[in-house]
Amino acid sequence: MRSLLILLLMADFANASEVGKVHPDRLENLVRQDCGACHGMTRKGGLGPDIRAQTLAGRDPAILAEIIKNGIPKTAMPPWGPLLSDAEIDWIAQYLLKEPTE
Ligand code: HEC
Repeated sequence: MRSLLILLLMADFANASEVGKVHPDRLENLVRQDCGACHGMTRKGGLGPDIRAQTLAGRDPAILAEIIKNGIPKTAMPPWGPLLSDAEIDWIAQYLLKEPTE
């Protein structure tokens, strides 16, 4: 009985550590392609506003993460919470703030 429990816990842990794990290359690509579809490849704006690091400077990363997670209701900004883990969303928020683009 106890070994079964341990097995279940291990299986759970294995899943948790794979799903939603931060892979910087994959996320950088997602920002360029998926966010870029609306915000522009260099994030200087398109359908969505300019979200370059130099423009977002001084913004609270936790608030940006919240916007990315939930989207902005009644606008084209979609919620990414269903697709990305909190760790991935936090990574993106930090990335937007620290990687300036042309
Ligand atoms: C389908 C179009 C679309 C996609 C895809 C999209 N956005 Fe947006 N985003 C918008 C629009 C439109 C707004 C502005 C909404 C408003 O307030 O009028 C916005 C707003 C934002 C804001 C708030 C900007 C500010 O100055 O407060 C952030 C941050 C943001 N988006 C990040 C992202 C990220 C990161 C991604 C990719 C994971 C993404 N967006 C993908 C359309 C999009």
